[in-house]
Amino acid sequence: MSYIESEHNNNRFSIATPLYYVNDLPHIGSAYTTMAVDVLGRFERLRGKSVLTITGTDEHGQKIQRTAEAAGSTPQEHCDRVAAGFEELWHKLNIHYDRFIRTTDPRHEHVVNAFFQRVWDNGDIYLGRQQGWYCVSCEEFKEERDLLEGHRCPIHSNREAEWRDEENYFFRLSKYQSQLEALYRDRPDFIQPESRRNEVLSFVERGLQDFSVSRVNLDWGFPVPGDPSHTLYVWFDALLGYVTALLDPDDEPTLENAIAKWWPITLHAIGKDILRFHAVYWPAMWMSAGLPLPNKVFGHGFLTKDGQKMGKSLGNTLNPFELVDRYGSDAVRYYFLKEIEFGRDGDFNETRFKNILNADLANDLGNLLNRTLKMAHKYCQGVVPDLSGAEIPDDCPLKVAGCSLGEEAIAAYESLRFDRACEAILSLVRMGNKYIDDRAPWKLYKQGEQEAVEQILYSVLESVRLAAYLLAPIVPNTSTEIYRQLGYSMDFNDKNSGKTLRDVKESFTVHVRWGTLPNRQTLGQPQPVFSRLE
Ligand code: MSP
Repeated sequence: MSYIESEHNNNRFSIATPLYYVNDLPHIGSAYTTMAVDVLGRFERLRGKSVLTITGTDEHGQKIQRTAEAAGSTPQEHCDRVAAGFEELWHKLNIHYDRFIRTTDPRHEHVVNAFFQRVWDNGDIYLGRQQGWYCVSCEEFKEERDLLEGHRCPIHSNREAEWRDEENYFFRLSKYQSQLEALYRDRPDFIQPESRRNEVLSFVERGLQDFSVSRVNLDWGFPVPGDPSHTLYVWFDALLGYVTALLDPDDEPTLENAIAKWWPITLHAIGKDILRFHAVYWPAMWMSAGLPLPNKVFGHGFLTKDGQKMGKSLGNTLNPFELVDRYGSDAVRYYFLKEIEFGRDGDFNETRFKNILNADLANDLGNLLNRTLKMAHKYCQGVVPDLSGAEIPDDCPLKVAGCSLGEEAIAAYESLRFDRACEAILSLVRMGNKYIDDRAPWKLYKQGEQEAVEQILYSVLESVRLAAYLLAPIVPNTSTEIYRQLGYSMDFNDKNSGKTLRDVKESFTVHVRWGTLPNRQTLGQPQPVFSRLE
């Protein structure tokens, strides 16, 4: 057993994106969740957790079957093509995922059947009649009062929901009403943020109804165990994709193996439209199976473009492939995580995008490093001044702010407030620019004040270093380049390979503190770390 494995149990962090529908290539909404999950995974890995990040595709159901038919391909061919597009985008966006699960993976059916059996054995599946309005785009029955005029779905307002009247198998969700209420009460942070928790509480308060878990007249899916005239409802199969994803590649595909190591998943990050499935149906399914519940669900907001809801019908979707090609992965990651509070709706506007990137990364951070390095080459022979953080006066404003920044950023990451982490980090950077302007080391140098010059340069270089370190989960390429110019050989795209978790944790403790830039470390040549966007 490797060191990483033996430490793993009390130190593990597993995090999942939703499994994306493959009706079309990924849009910026899917990219948004995936970037956030990647950032959190990278942060936890940086501080020495044993991390598993999961993403993948949800490939069964009517919506996919119809899309494939319309495109003139078989469902499987269609899924293969689109799933490959997802992986391609994740590579472009520099996403470090450990598992990419496709619900058409042959191992998945074993896990689904075993889970279904447990729920069945517990008496929670029964045959009934389902009548109601079904939105194929959501793959969900809608209550009539929630629909718009003409029975259109509020999420897919250009589509009419379809009337269904058919025999379905049902899951006894109503049986879990009080157990779910107890879950939300006893584990108040099970659903985050607070606004989403309140949404769920009021939905559950209205009284839970059993939901159907099978469809008739649908081929593209798994047959219901014991009754192949029914196909399993795509959501039942899709949610369990998270579990199949936990299997190691050479594990035998059993439910026991799947949940042996990484279940329960520490955090599900999802959009607000699929909150009920994750915060109500999903824990109830585990209650029924008599197995531990997932740990936490975080529901983020929706992205709009220039203030308008993004959608194909409006023709204002944002192509994430083009965005990365034009601006690079760090820029795209930074904008969405810095600009939008994770949990609230947020907007994309190209002018604002460029302004923010230029202001924060090119000007504030990039220029600060550039000008300070130039001075260090001129006034200090191209090495870090022979000082330590402890020797910098305690009233140096950069030291004061830098010493509390690590904790502040950690707290922000832990609560998924990536915007807050960026703000706090950038405020140290801005302070660095002001400090250097105020203290004018070039004048002090001319006056022969070498000691003062070295203190200033050390404090600024160290502040840039700390900023780069704390931003590394968000802009790993930029941070790696800054570290290189500061004389380190650290690569923030490295997944701790060949390191023990103890070493990783120790390194984190050192780097997250202000004042640890090694004296006399040889500095690299100044080069722009982030090119201005025109
Ligand atoms: N297949 C289901 C999830 C099954 S999970 C077991 C699904 N897929 S989806 O592709 O339609 O949506 C995936 C995610 O993208 C959801 O979390 C959804 O909220 C998110 N987004 C879709 N459009 C979005 C925006 N415009 N903005 C932000 N996120 C959005 O639902």
